Amino acid sequence: MSDLFDEVALAYDQTWTQGWNGRGQRRRVWEYLSKLGTDLRVLEVACGTGEDALFMSELGWEVHATDSSERMIEQAKKKCASAKSVIFDRLDLMALDRTDISGKFDLVFSNFGGLNCLSARQLHDFKLFASEQLSPTGSLIFVLMPRRALLERWYNLLKRRPNSRVSEGVARVRLVDNEVETFYFDPDFIIQQFSDFQVQDVRALGFVPSYFSDPNSRKASLDPLWRGLDFLMRTLQVGPSRADHYLIHLKRPKKNV
Ligand SMILES: C[S@@+](CC[C@H](N)C(=O)[O-])C[C@H]1O[C@@H](n2cnc3c(N)ncnc32)[C@H](O)[C@@H]1O
Repeated sequence: MSDLFDEVALAYDQTWTQGWNGRGQRRRVWEYLSKLGTDLRVLEVACGTGEDALFMSELGWEVHATDSSERMIEQAKKKCASAKSVIFDRLDLMALDRTDISGKFDLVFSNFGGLNCLSARQLHDFKLFASEQLSPTGSLIFVLMPRRALLERWYNLLKRRPNSRVSEGVARVRLVDNEVETFYFDPDFIIQQFSDFQVQDVRALGFVPSYFSDPNSRKASLDPLWRGLDFLMRTLQVGPSRADHYLIHLKRPKKNV
């Protein structure tokens, strides 16, 4: 069965991964990951075109990378053809009962909004699944989109448009021919949902929504303005709930003995 994200798999790297905004935000994720240590076993969900799987394999980590989109996995496999410690699998986060993946991973990782495709209910099921996959000292690292991204809010106010991200926490986001439901989760909500984990870190990664910097969008003609605002907001350390994406690191608490 084809997946909604199949239709963006070919263009994804050009529109996000290779642009200034995608590169900048991903670089900040990599800076964080590279401090975590060596020899980790990672389960990556919603891996997309495999940019992070390749990076983590270069850190010497063993990576089990998954996505629901066959075309995304195809791109990822091409990119990681010479990487030794990566395997790929299809895994639909909305059909977790159908997977036979089971391992004691040091890290369950998802970058750039893969988990924003889940409703709060599905996120709860994912939490149970991820908890089962983790070793007793394992971590979760997610990169997510919050509800109140500041630049988008200003932009919508300027355009006098309602912002369903804020009012309902869900928006229908156009891919190419299809729309995908996108759910926005603030850091506080994630912390509450994963309350049996300890919060290690929550940080903003960047402030410019991906569709502002997409080279195919008219908004990209204002790139110098977006870059300037992004720099300013990072310098002022505007909080993660006002960012385009934020990183949250949750860790299993040490059990009392
Ligand atoms: C915005 S992309 C992020 C890709 C990648 N993590 C990155 O950092 O570039 C979102 C990804 O989530 C995947 N995805 C969406 N819904 C999914 C689901 N139900 N199960 C698994 N993956 C899903 C898409 O196929 C897509 O690859």
